[in-house]
Amino acid sequence: MVTTIDVLEALAAGDWDGAAERAAVAGADDPGSQLALALDRFLGDLPAPGVYEAPSAFEAFISNGGNVVLYERAIAALAALHADEQPETVLDIGCGDGRVTAAVLGPSTARVDLVEPSAELLVAARAAVSAPGTVGGREVVGHQAGVTEVLAGLDADVRWDLVQSTFALHATHPDERPALFAALADRTDRLVVVDFDVPAFEDRSPEHLAYLAERYERGVREYVDHPEVVTGFLLPVLVGQLDPSRPRYTFEQPTAAWAELVEAAGFTVEVEPVSPYWWADATLLSATRRA
Ligand SMILES: C[S@@+](CC[C@H](N)C(=O)[O-])C[C@H]1O[C@@H](n2cnc3c(N)ncnc32)[C@H](O)[C@@H]1O
Repeated sequence: MVTTIDVLEALAAGDWDGAAERAAVAGADDPGSQLALALDRFLGDLPAPGVYEAPSAFEAFISNGGNVVLYERAIAALAALHADEQPETVLDIGCGDGRVTAAVLGPSTARVDLVEPSAELLVAARAAVSAPGTVGGREVVGHQAGVTEVLAGLDADVRWDLVQSTFALHATHPDERPALFAALADRTDRLVVVDFDVPAFEDRSPEHLAYLAERYERGVREYVDHPEVVTGFLLPVLVGQLDPSRPRYTFEQPTAAWAELVEAAGFTVEVEPVSPYWWADATLLSATRRA
């Protein structure tokens, strides 16, 4: 019997044709598997543009399935923090279409900086945080680039009361993270990160492949009515973690590893749960700069 793990193993070996062949057999061997079906249907047909550069599938992804509750909970946790702390200046790293940013900013915030490499998502985010119903007169500054590049280009005296990031820091390369958190420590006393608490895996190890197969089976099932999400987001993100010739969108790590990095940059860290989720539980890491 050929399983989805066998398909992922071929992808990890860069054997695209072999993966497609195995996917066809896996789909026949286990007709109940939605992941096998999706791999069989879509492997030959994954879109070329990046998942965030042409973001319609991403936006359908976050608007449906388990993301509805996940986003509600992430927004509730962050909005409570904004209400408590009343930041005047906020930086949102990897803001996407700005739906979280717009939902959590309170009347105290007079300036928000949005960092987002995708031109289309940045346009949407600017519109979201400037939309009627938000506080008039707020200054909105968009930066269309990755966060490391943006921080390197700013004047030394630019600071924020609060820096936040939801489900986006995992897009940064692990090699850039120590310097990134050090740069943030120079510019803020408060950093809040919502992301997924994945188990620690060696890339492409048997344990990693088994986790991917099991979790993406659950994920794909949430989008049976949205095949564009499966082709345009879920499978490119899955395959990018395996096949070195495809763009990679996620470099994830356990929350404890994020906490270690942030503490090493000079912050004290607290972690709280946000929500269970098909991929991994989401957590909120709240960091305060040590005096
Ligand atoms: C999963 S989305 C999350 C978007 C948004 N924060 C949300 O909660 O809906 C990840 C975002 O990170 C952005 N991103 C990718 N690489 C980045 C980088 N190096 N610096 C900042 N943002 C990045 C992507 O373009 C994308 O919008």
